[in-house]
Amino acid sequence: MSMLERAEAAERAMSEELDRTVVKSVIYVSGDRDPRVPLTRPDNGKLVMMGQDPRLPRMPERPTLLDFFKYRFGPANHLMQSARLAQKNGVAEKLVLACLLHDIGIAGFIRGDHGYWAAQLLEPYVDEEVSWAIRYHQALRFFPDESVGYAYPQMYTKLFGADYEPDPYIQRDYAYAREHKWYMSARLICVNDLYAFDPNVKVELEEFTDVVGRHFRQPKEGLGWDASPSAHMWRTIMMPTKYL
Ligand SMILES: [Fe+2]
Ligand SMILES: [Fe+2]
Repeated sequence: MSMLERAEAAERAMSEELDRTVVKSVIYVSGDRDPRVPLTRPDNGKLVMMGQDPRLPRMPERPTLLDFFKYRFGPANHLMQSARLAQKNGVAEKLVLACLLHDIGIAGFIRGDHGYWAAQLLEPYVDEEVSWAIRYHQALRFFPDESVGYAYPQMYTKLFGADYEPDPYIQRDYAYAREHKWYMSARLICVNDLYAFDPNVKVELEEFTDVVGRHFRQPKEGLGWDASPSAHMWRTIMMPTKYL
């Protein structure tokens, strides 16, 4: 058996232990598999997954933003420490929220183009400047601005190689953001974006309850169950293995 076949057999075994069959979306497995090959549904007589996956912690009926942090996002240390640093640097409160949320694309959804995904997730619920700053922090990250002491991250050289050139669309979006009235808001996310956080510093999510309460419009139906233009994206984070 090839590695891929072994992985698929393990998946099948796991899926057979569940009451419902899980068929993953193409995007989760593309690359490991050829996306042109149809994903087949195992013919095991079971119903397919059409709700919350029992392998995941169950989300409350009307989930809040903080519930997504607790039940669906990876460790939020990077985000909380960035937000705390922004607070310490006297950044305006709504931009502290931007720092707290700037990488939720990575923490809970899709890595590639994470700034764009996070902005879209958040747009219906935050001030326009907040989602704008989150969208453009991604492009700005690659370009130094000495006026605020922001250098090209050494970590990027390590991650992408010394000769890495950002894609043309990132260069285009940087040039656009550079001339925008909210440029500094996106830049402040980069300035307070901490890579090397101190493992001894403990930050609790609850520290930001008030900031979130004042600057995030929590839908009363619960995030995902409202009718906003990005509600379906929150539902996908809540139920990533839903068949349809
Ligand atoms: Fe980021
Ligand atoms: Fe970040």
